[in-house]
Amino acid sequence: MQVFKEKEAARRWMFQQRCAVDAIGLVPTMGALHEGHLSLVRRSVRRCQATAASIFVNPTQFAPDEDLARYPRTLESDLEMLAGCGVDAVFVPDTEEMYSSGFSTYVQPPKVALRLEGKHRPDHFRGVTTVVAKLFHVLPCTHAFFGHKDYQQACVLEHMNRELDFGVDIEVCPTVRDADGLALSSRNRYLSGDQRSRALSLIRALRQAAERYQNGERSTAALERGMRAVLQAGGINRIDYATVVDADNLTSHSTVPEQPIALIAAHLGGTRLIDNLRLDTDSLATA
Ligand code: PAF
Repeated sequence: MQVFKEKEAARRWMFQQRCAVDAIGLVPTMGALHEGHLSLVRRSVRRCQATAASIFVNPTQFAPDEDLARYPRTLESDLEMLAGCGVDAVFVPDTEEMYSSGFSTYVQPPKVALRLEGKHRPDHFRGVTTVVAKLFHVLPCTHAFFGHKDYQQACVLEHMNRELDFGVDIEVCPTVRDADGLALSSRNRYLSGDQRSRALSLIRALRQAAERYQNGERSTAALERGMRAVLQAGGINRIDYATVVDADNLTSHSTVPEQPIALIAAHLGGTRLIDNLRLDTDSLATA
C-alpha cells in the first residue's frame, strides 16, 4: 500500500490509476477507523479495481468549541487496517499541505445543509464540502463511499457532486452497529460505561419511531414526541434534534412524508452523537 503525504504525488498516482482501470474508489475519512469505515473500504475494493483512502482531521469542519484537539488520532493502526482490507493507496496530508497559509476559498454548501446539523453546527458543512471538493481534485476518483450514519453529510455531498459537476459516483453505505444497536462512531471512544449505556437510547428511540410508523402512525409531532420521551427516559436531556423528515430534501411536514427518515443528535456529557433510521425501509430487527 502506498502512503502519500503530498498532494502532487497522490494526484500523480491517481491519474496513473485512472488510465489503467475503469473504476477507482475513494474513501475519505478522518481516521480513528472502525468497522464502519472498513465496510466502506471493503465496498470500494469489491466495486472498483483500485481503492484510495484519505485520513485527514479537517479543521475547517470543527467549530472553535468542538473536539478538534482531542479528536482521536490512531494513524499506525489505521494504516494497518487499510492495508489489511486491500487499499492500494492512502493520502495522509498534514494541515499545511491541505490548507496553504492565507487559505480563504470555500465551497458554499447546498440548501440541504441549512437544516438539522446546519442549525447546530453553522460552518460545519462548509468545511466538509470544501475538504471533499479538494479531495476530489487531488484524488480524482470515479466512485466515492460515505456512510449512512452521517446521512445529512451524504445528502450535502450528493448535491455538491451533482451541482458542481464532479461526476463522481457516490455510494452511501449502511450504518454499521455494535450488537446492541449503537451506531459505530469514532466519538464512541469518548463515552464512559454509563454514557455508552445511555447512548443506546438513540437507537431505541429510532426503532420506536419506525415501529409506530409501520403500525400506521402518520403524525410527525407524535413520532417526535415519542422519540424525545425515549431519550429522556434513557437519561439523555440535551437533545439538539429528534425529528422525522423527508429523506430526499430533509424538509419537515406535519404528516409524515412518503420517504421518512428519523434523525437524532444528542449529547452525552461532552460527546455529541448522531444517528438515523429510515422508517419505511430499514428493517427493525437488523437496523
Ligand atoms: O465523515 C467524515 O469522516 C468527514 O466529514 C469527511 C467526509 C472525511 C470530511 O472530512
